[in-house]
Amino acid sequence: MALLPSTMRAAVITAPGAPDVLRVQDRPVPEPGPGEILVRVRGSALNRADVLQRMGRYPAPPGVPTDIPGLEFAGEVAASGPGAERWAVGTRVTGLVGGGAHAEFLVTHQDAVAVIPEALSWEVAGATPEACITAYDALQQAGAAPGEVVLVHAVGSGVGLAVVQVGAALGCRTYGTARSPAKLDVARALGMTDGVVHGEAGWVVAAARRWTDKRGVDVCIDLVGGPYVAETVPAMALHGRIVVVGTLAGQETSLDLRYLLGKRLTIRGTVLRSRPLAERVAVTEAYARTVLPWLAAGTVRLPIDATFPLARIAEAHALMESNATTGKIALSFD
Ligand SMILES: NC(=O)c1ccc[n+]([C@@H]2O[C@H](COP(=O)([O-])OP(=O)(O)OC[C@H]3O[C@@H](n4cnc5c(N)ncnc54)[C@H](OP(=O)(O)O)[C@@H]3O)[C@@H](O)[C@H]2O)c1
Repeated sequence: MALLPSTMRAAVITAPGAPDVLRVQDRPVPEPGPGEILVRVRGSALNRADVLQRMGRYPAPPGVPTDIPGLEFAGEVAASGPGAERWAVGTRVTGLVGGGAHAEFLVTHQDAVAVIPEALSWEVAGATPEACITAYDALQQAGAAPGEVVLVHAVGSGVGLAVVQVGAALGCRTYGTARSPAKLDVARALGMTDGVVHGEAGWVVAAARRWTDKRGVDVCIDLVGGPYVAETVPAMALHGRIVVVGTLAGQETSLDLRYLLGKRLTIRGTVLRSRPLAERVAVTEAYARTVLPWLAAGTVRLPIDATFPLARIAEAHALMESNATTGKIALSFD
């Protein structure tokens, strides 16, 4: 077995603040505990949670590094802790962690990873788990069924484009919103039926009525929150389900509850990061069974807008905050 280094390069949040608080520093390589594996990270990507954590607004859950961001990875098994005999050294694995993926090594539970299909590069395998697992899991929670109409807000985001692709793979008709037509064009090229640019009060219900012959949408995956929830409620069909996944436009809203009652709607929220191990294992297994084979076959694609080496992590954060990207921002480790 190749000798492992004692230190690694890691993106470190040195203080809460703007992207320039991020520094690439040497840190000890973590040691895998019982049931855990050490992974040499070959690919990862950014998520909004990394930006919020850097600003001091989204602390890492217990058990993960407090100052190294990063929620998703692709890499090779480099060593195993006591009792972790599932994977041979060198196995290509991918998965989610509560933090710490923006470093050359991380530890995770041996059951919380999926084997990467041969067809997938490090770049793609490292940039897809968070968006695709979030999208698949939210659509499952919504009970999205073949033939149903799914609307996603912020369709040009990493998660938004994953909803378009995974939703289509599940047999749904997908629609989306964005604040610029260019993002809708990318989503259309990936199979979105139609989309609408943010507008005046009533813009969501007007578009939904047009798309569905006045019936409304069955499912909304809302990545934006705030006033978008109130705009969406009248746009839902009878028995519609809204899953609030993000709060980019705010954490508060005011609803006309008559729609909730009259249409017998369900509104639920979801978060992946703080789920206990057993639930993280379950979503990873579902990813391995469903979305990873679709990614390998090309049925599901998730555009990578830009790729930065770890040394340029601050630039990657600034780009994400500019809202200029469509799809994922990947990180490389060569
Ligand atoms: N609950 C979970 O477990 C979970 C997991 C993953 C992600 N998320 C959430 O999902 C959302 C998308 O994440 P991501 O990493 O895919 O994002 P991303 O790729 O960075 O894209 C976010 C996009 O949202 C739009 N946006 C930003 N601020 C907005 C505002 N105030 N109003 C309307 N649109 C706005 C922008 O596109 P436009 O040009 O269209 O404005 C922006 O490009 C985030 O809220 C994130 O926190 C939640």
